[in-house]
Amino acid sequence: MISRLEEGKDPSAARISPSRPFPVRLLQFFLLFLVIGIGASFLSMHTIRHFGIHNVALMQSTFRPCFQTPGTIESLIMPPVNLMHKMNDTELFWRASFETRIKDYPFRRVPKIAFMFLTKGPLPMAPLWERFFKGHEQLYSIYVHSLPSYTPDFPPSSVFHRRQIPSQVAEWGMMSMCDAERRLLANALLDISNEWFILLSESCIPLQNFSIIYRYISRSRYSFMGAVDEPGPYGRGRYEENMAPEINMSDWRKGSQWFEIKRELAIRIVEDGTYYPKLRDFCLPHKCYVDEHYFQTMLTITMPHLLANRSLTYVDWSRGGAHPATFGKDDIKEDFFRRILEDQTCIYNDQTSSLCFLFARKFAPSALEPLLDIAPKVLGI
Ligand SMILES: *[C@@H]1O[C@H](CO)[C@@H](O)[C@H](O)[C@H]1NC(C)=O
Ligand SMILES: *[C@@H]1O[C@H](CO)[C@@H](O)[C@H](O)[C@H]1NC(C)=O
Ligand SMILES: *[C@@H]1O[C@H](CO)[C@@H](O)[C@H](O)[C@H]1NC(C)=O
Ligand SMILES: *[C@@H]1O[C@H](CO)[C@@H](O)[C@H](O)[C@H]1NC(C)=O
Repeated sequence: MISRLEEGKDPSAARISPSRPFPVRLLQFFLLFLVIGIGASFLSMHTIRHFGIHNVALMQSTFRPCFQTPGTIESLIMPPVNLMHKMNDTELFWRASFETRIKDYPFRRVPKIAFMFLTKGPLPMAPLWERFFKGHEQLYSIYVHSLPSYTPDFPPSSVFHRRQIPSQVAEWGMMSMCDAERRLLANALLDISNEWFILLSESCIPLQNFSIIYRYISRSRYSFMGAVDEPGPYGRGRYEENMAPEINMSDWRKGSQWFEIKRELAIRIVEDGTYYPKLRDFCLPHKCYVDEHYFQTMLTITMPHLLANRSLTYVDWSRGGAHPATFGKDDIKEDFFRRILEDQTCIYNDQTSSLCFLFARKFAPSALEPLLDIAPKVLGI
């Protein structure tokens, strides 16, 4: 008590600041903080300019608020900002198989289409896709799986910028190809807004504008997985008795690798532990090509009522051989698209339709320039 009362008169205190009055010291402190504050803000602006601009651009381009209060519904449904993660496939598939059972979403959920690009390296058709996606930012998300040796260099303004997922080597006709497709699905499932999942390659192009594709897919009762029961050596001939009883000959299906499926089916594929070992062990090259049978067969067994049994991706097998035709710059004529777009009939929502294909392959890089020229006229892009 006594010492506190006498504090102001303490001779030792007077010794520390012998001549300066109290307000000057306060001013010094104030100035010091001001200098530190200004310094820190300069430093952070500098850091953002050099290292953080990608993050800022990414957040703005996807209309994502920068801060989310933990514990709110927004913080639970927000998609991952960075697609790169450290989960291995076991961990990723487990995480991706989480599913909400109440389908009545207590927030405004705008269902998106996940465009999943399975590529070796570069995306030569990127400029056409950029044009296709422009103006529809809320309705799609993009995922790219490429060989791990490839380093992409899309500028921050590109829709493909930072859309790469952790990837592994994938070989045609091998289980590693289906693994890559499941990896794409699992990464895309982490965004709760993704409702439809499309698998594309670097040689694919869109055949319609975004609005038409979105409407066609979102209004379809069925998922577009090509799946046919084909007699002969290249269909039923690839079936093995060892696959029974999980897979019987009558369930065996064949179809194009390039699919479009609903979220429900994507989860079935990611969670599957029943059919995977059968295909891995008994569908082996060069007798059987697993990417033509695995998802086609397992979805036919588990969810046949949801399958359209046809693919949305046009491909030309008429030239014969093991690979479909590749179109180069000399093929890109109005006539060519008239053939693909007009002379078609198929079943859409149990009715006859003339709009059957939304995508086409395979296009060589040389086709890009003529495609960009002709796209506004023939594709509406
Ligand atoms: C992933 O990691 C877990 C935990 O270490 C391990 O049990 C699992 O086998 C791993 N999976 C793969 C595919 O490497
Ligand atoms: C897409 O194409 C259809 C038919 O060609 C057209 O009516 C529609 O306006 C186009 N949409 C956009 C956004 O360009
Ligand atoms: C395959 O056939 C066996 C014997 O008829 C049956 O028990 C099994 O359920 C069938 N598998 C499927 C997937 O239908
Ligand atoms: C697709 O095929 C399955 C059987 O493989 C069938 O149950 C289903 O009805 C077919 N889908 C359509 C749209 O016809």
